[in-house]
Amino acid sequence: MRLNGKVSIITGGAAGIGKETALIFGAEGAKVVIADINLEDGEGAVREIRAKGGNAIFVQADISVESDARRITEEAVERFGSIDILVNNAATFVLKGFDATAEDWQHSLSVNVIGTALVTKYAAETMRGNGSGAIVVVSSVSSWIAQPKFFAYSATKAALLQMTRNMAMDLAPYKIRVNCVCPGAILTSASYRYMKEAHLTPELFDAEQGAQTLLKRVGRPEEVARAILFLASEEASYITGTHLMVDGGYTAM
Ligand SMILES: NC(=O)c1ccc[n+]([C@@H]2O[C@H](COP(=O)([O-])OP(=O)(O)OC[C@H]3O[C@@H](n4cnc5c(N)ncnc54)[C@H](O)[C@@H]3O)[C@@H](O)[C@H]2O)c1
Repeated sequence: MRLNGKVSIITGGAAGIGKETALIFGAEGAKVVIADINLEDGEGAVREIRAKGGNAIFVQADISVESDARRITEEAVERFGSIDILVNNAATFVLKGFDATAEDWQHSLSVNVIGTALVTKYAAETMRGNGSGAIVVVSSVSSWIAQPKFFAYSATKAALLQMTRNMAMDLAPYKIRVNCVCPGAILTSASYRYMKEAHLTPELFDAEQGAQTLLKRVGRPEEVARAILFLASEEASYITGTHLMVDGGYTAM
């Protein structure tokens, strides 16, 4: 098992990429803390991990609320004794450009950027004391390329990419590694919400998005989760401050 006994927090672990990451981490022996605003799906994910013999708890929390961000890490330590791995995956999807209002910007920034910074701040306090840790941030291809009417979201993902480098620098003296993954189009509940808004069927979404990749298809959540697992594990012991594209070659074209 690649994460045997490692205490891992996964924000946004109730659905999509976060849930697949939580399931894979559970199967790899990690003690998993799923932190999410969605109580029903979060508890469901915990049940799935336990049913397969894994160890997991759910913490209902909104990462953009500082007291919640702190509570996630406190509950992890209280229940499992420490924090070894943090996966900053939770995000809100304000898919707007010039039509974004000030409230839209506040929401997008407060969850994706400030929420990630807050959870990392409190988790890093424990990791510093341990003199070890691995943090994986979920950014996006949207931090690298322009997409139409998307910049209220893309700006937050680009911020996460840069924050990854800065945080890696500040935490390196404590032997805490920080990396990020940049997924392309992945079939998750977020994609289904987008399809509904854009009046696209799953087949059209796959054809449209897949055409923009070398592999000619959209990705599956577990394909991103495997990359997160790699960066969180000891296999990536000499990797920090960098990014891994998980986009089927989207940004290579
Ligand atoms: N799906 C894609 O195509 C895609 C592409 C690139 C990057 N990403 C990134 O991958 C990550 C996961 O996306 P997904 O597609 O699995 O999304 P999703 O909507 O399927 O899951 C996101 C989860 O985050 C939770 N969440 C949202 N706001 C939260 C908050 N304030 N506090 C705590 N939890 C919160 C949701 O309840 C949900 O369970 C995000 O960071 C997203 O930006 C996704």
